[in-house]
Amino acid sequence: MFSYVFMKLLEGRPESYDRRVERVSGGHIRAIKEQIVDAIDPGTHVLEVGCGTGELATMIAARGATVLAFDASEKMVAEARDRMAREGLEEKVTVQSMAVTAMDRLDAASFDAVVATLVLSELTRDEERYALRHAVRVLRPGGRLLLADEVVPRTTGRRLAYQAVRLPVLAVTYLVSTSSTRPLENLPETLRHLGLEVLQEERSLGDAFALVVARKPQQDKEVEA
Ligand SMILES: C[S@@+](CC[C@H](N)C(=O)[O-])C[C@H]1O[C@@H](n2cnc3c(N)ncnc32)[C@H](O)[C@@H]1O
Repeated sequence: MFSYVFMKLLEGRPESYDRRVERVSGGHIRAIKEQIVDAIDPGTHVLEVGCGTGELATMIAARGATVLAFDASEKMVAEARDRMAREGLEEKVTVQSMAVTAMDRLDAASFDAVVATLVLSELTRDEERYALRHAVRVLRPGGRLLLADEVVPRTTGRRLAYQAVRLPVLAVTYLVSTSSTRPLENLPETLRHLGLEVLQEERSLGDAFALVVARKPQQDKEVEA
């Protein structure tokens, strides 16, 4: 059992963020990112929401896709841009300083895939709904949404075990950073409600982490408000 609730602590230092996440998660988040990358087709155009230091965008670009990656943190954006320059990926990855609340500026049906790892859990419920609604809008018909994040476990026993691990870390994180994260509830149901077809839901970390892959139908379904 493990929780990513401390992410807010690590985000304060973008220059060491990837290394520290890798160490504390025992390679879990890197393995999830590799699974996401495997599902991306070369030659496609991908949107990454909350790209952090740009690790996933770099991996997707290496697979032959182009990426528009954005993040609300200026420090993360600077780190991601430095990374693209270092790795010669500026032509393949555009990094923008932008919050999810500006996603309405993105063109409809302009991406083959939208990806987000450990981001939705940092948003308010309203921001999460807004981000998901626009993620669906910017996907081309047939395009896929790939999300990986902390989620509420499905059984009572697992929920209790998860809270026992999470609460002390949550308290420390909140004391140090005065911010926290929020495990997602009913993610597949939310995506179905938005008209997507859920293709995969893979749970890990004692049922408290999910990789969810969903597809936008070829024919737009009516999206419920
Ligand atoms: C835990 S980090 C994950 C970074 C990256 N996705 C990864 O998996 O390595 C969460 C990221 O979401 C960004 N973020 C949080 N709230 C955001 C918002 N409202 N709009 C855009 N980015 C946001 C943070 O700045 C941070 O870089």
